[in-house]
Amino acid sequence: MIKKTKSKLAIHGGSPVRSSPYPIHSTMLDDAEEKQLIETIRKGHLSGFSARPGDRFLGGEKVIELEEHFAKKFNVKFAVSTNSATSSLHSAISAIGIREGDEVITSPFTMSATGSSIVMQNAVPVFADIEDRTFGLDPASVEKLISKKTKAILTVNILGHPSRLKELKEIADKYNLFLIEDNAQSPMAENHGKLAGTVGDIGILSLNYHKCIQTGEGGIALTNDPNLAERLRLIRNHGEVVVGKINKGHMTNQLGWNYRLSELQAAVGIPQIKKLDYLTKIRSDLASMLIKELEPFNFLTPPVIEPESSHVFYLFGMRFHEHDAGFSRKEFVNAMKAEGIALNEGYVLPMYLEPMYQNPHLTPQLNVALSSNFLKDELPENFTNNRSKHDHKKCPYESHIKENYSNKFYSPGICPIAEKMHESEICITDICKYPNSEKEILEFVEAVKKVSDGLLSLNA
Ligand SMILES: Cc1ncc(COP(=O)(O)O)c(C=O)c1O
Repeated sequence: MIKKTKSKLAIHGGSPVRSSPYPIHSTMLDDAEEKQLIETIRKGHLSGFSARPGDRFLGGEKVIELEEHFAKKFNVKFAVSTNSATSSLHSAISAIGIREGDEVITSPFTMSATGSSIVMQNAVPVFADIEDRTFGLDPASVEKLISKKTKAILTVNILGHPSRLKELKEIADKYNLFLIEDNAQSPMAENHGKLAGTVGDIGILSLNYHKCIQTGEGGIALTNDPNLAERLRLIRNHGEVVVGKINKGHMTNQLGWNYRLSELQAAVGIPQIKKLDYLTKIRSDLASMLIKELEPFNFLTPPVIEPESSHVFYLFGMRFHEHDAGFSRKEFVNAMKAEGIALNEGYVLPMYLEPMYQNPHLTPQLNVALSSNFLKDELPENFTNNRSKHDHKKCPYESHIKENYSNKFYSPGICPIAEKMHESEICITDICKYPNSEKEILEFVEAVKKVSDGLLSLNA
């Protein structure tokens, strides 16, 4: 039974529940990483890559070892490392052959790189809505958006919970589409007996410094398909200079980049992956405790764990219900912050509302994507461009694209659940991460109690 507190809110000059900042690092770095780094520095090979045919095309010994660990841990045939999840996402979109004007259906409720990886291939991100339990793609919304130009679904397993992977895979199979998983936030989460990141054709992990385990920067692409693995490796390391020399005639179209992971980063990753289960358990235990402790507060819905799924709580996302609270989400979050508690309002602006998508003609790649998409169509009936129809191969039709395509793909209101979650319901904390402990969880709950009592008596 929670007792009523009367202390003055910190936002009104009272003492805060927590007066010290949270620790910066959320992964465990110790002697194991230090030993690996020293060993690598002493060997002198800080990168093992060379953009030439031969062994060094695939990276140095630490890179190869790291990839073996990931493939084993995620029970897939191939793990291809890169220098970021953004690089891995772009590699995946390129590897499956996405090209100008193609449509890829994805989530608007994610970090920008998910959508940008599609734009990098001059293709069109088409945003389907999310559902309000897992915050992942709503399969019904995805299916409605499938057109003859759709080539893939890029789903995001967000905050630590899988999206509806089984249903999304069924849709992908039904329409002969690729399924890619952005699993940057949910390593080791499960869905229907499979690890998130291993249901789709390719699954992506992030090793950046905020993630569950880190190498500073880094990404991994998981796949069971040898052809995709080969393309991913070509894309990572200037594939265009290699294919001719290794007689991969069928792949002469495969442009590469420099997405290579250094030996130093890979060296750090080797002990990190061994800590993945331990760090996941810490977050899951603290999150279970927080879910239980929040039960008395009916204005907060803690994270949902769907049947046949597990949650790894990369972040702890709650839904806030103003009607039950009697105060607004903004008042609540501001008062919690004043108490020294880590809590944010919303997650990310649904991606299509960002300026890039609202002014798509200003971003060269998006302009090409939309122009090509448009050219694959008949001219729309309501076409109002001043140019004559005979000019229509003179791409891009900037004014036309600006007026019609931002409306078609990116107008406000296209994903009402994502907008509602961001604008009025979701609030997120990261306090379940290592090295936080039960102390931080109890402090959070104490602050929720203090703030809700305080705001209610003020608003009474
Ligand atoms: C869902 C999601 N996708 C992609 C990325 C990009 O990861 P990286 O920083 O490794 O490129 C992030 C990083 O925050 C992410 O959260």
